[in-house]
Amino acid sequence: MTTERVLWITGGGSGMGAASAAAAARSGWTVVLSGRRAEQLDAVADGIRADGGTAQVLPLDVTDPDAVRAARDTVIAEHGRLDGLVLAAGLNAPARRWDDQTMGSFQSIVDTNLTAVAIVTDAALPALRETGGVVVVISSYAGWSFQPGAGVAYSASKTALGSLTRSLNQQEAQHGVRATHLCPGDVATDFLAQRPQVPDEAARAVMLTPEDIGRTVAFVLDAPAHVRIDELVISPVSQR
Ligand SMILES: NC(=O)c1ccc[n+]([C@@H]2O[C@H](COP(=O)([O-])OP(=O)(O)OC[C@H]3O[C@@H](n4cnc5c(N)ncnc54)[C@H](OP(=O)(O)O)[C@@H]3O)[C@@H](O)[C@H]2O)c1
Repeated sequence: MTTERVLWITGGGSGMGAASAAAAARSGWTVVLSGRRAEQLDAVADGIRADGGTAQVLPLDVTDPDAVRAARDTVIAEHGRLDGLVLAAGLNAPARRWDDQTMGSFQSIVDTNLTAVAIVTDAALPALRETGGVVVVISSYAGWSFQPGAGVAYSASKTALGSLTRSLNQQEAQHGVRATHLCPGDVATDFLAQRPQVPDEAARAVMLTPEDIGRTVAFVLDAPAHVRIDELVISPVSQR
């Protein structure tokens, strides 16, 4: 009998989170999908079940610590364990320069991209220590090197995820917990609608696909327990 491995994914209703869920489920993980739009999560879960996988839906806003802790409690109550996290929920805005951003938007982007990653990780850590769990932080190319167009708040929040991942690895290795700062370049997802100039079909055609990231995430998740992949940068050949 193989032991169930349970993976909790934020941003699981679309794009890279959904593709990561599908790839992990194909590899035998039980996936728990979180995001705000329940119908999106249900559609992804239905697809995984139709493929023979196991999926559960727990809708929430990642910036709400009480909702995150309640979902964590549900995961542990129903499965008795948590073996992995994929943190894909993210936010940007078209007005992203010092001369057009608002502080309200800055705050929302940092809350979603940085503080919520800490909130979910903090809630999950006791369970991850039990299993020697793996954490995949979906950061960005802009979290790996400075990208002028990515935005003031987005660049700052994603860059900070490198530090967050390193402190996790430095302090939690004693419990077997491993974290990866995953830095994708352009990926053809709904996220591109938040750009000041939304890429057209020709531009999207040369980008990475969500499935490229799903395959990469599954590779990290399925690495042996003694292997830590600190950082991964993945970009389309066309990336500038
Ligand atoms: N696409 C790119 O070129 C690219 C490149 C590098 C990095 N990234 C990063 O990749 C990650 C995934 O993005 P994607 O490209 O796959 O785009 P996406 O399909 O738009 O995914 C973003 C997800 O985040 C969820 N989300 C946003 N705010 C949330 C909140 N407050 N609470 C819960 N869930 C929330 C959204 O679901 P709900 O709206 O239903 O909540 C959505 O499923 C993001 O962190 C993004 O910064 C994207």
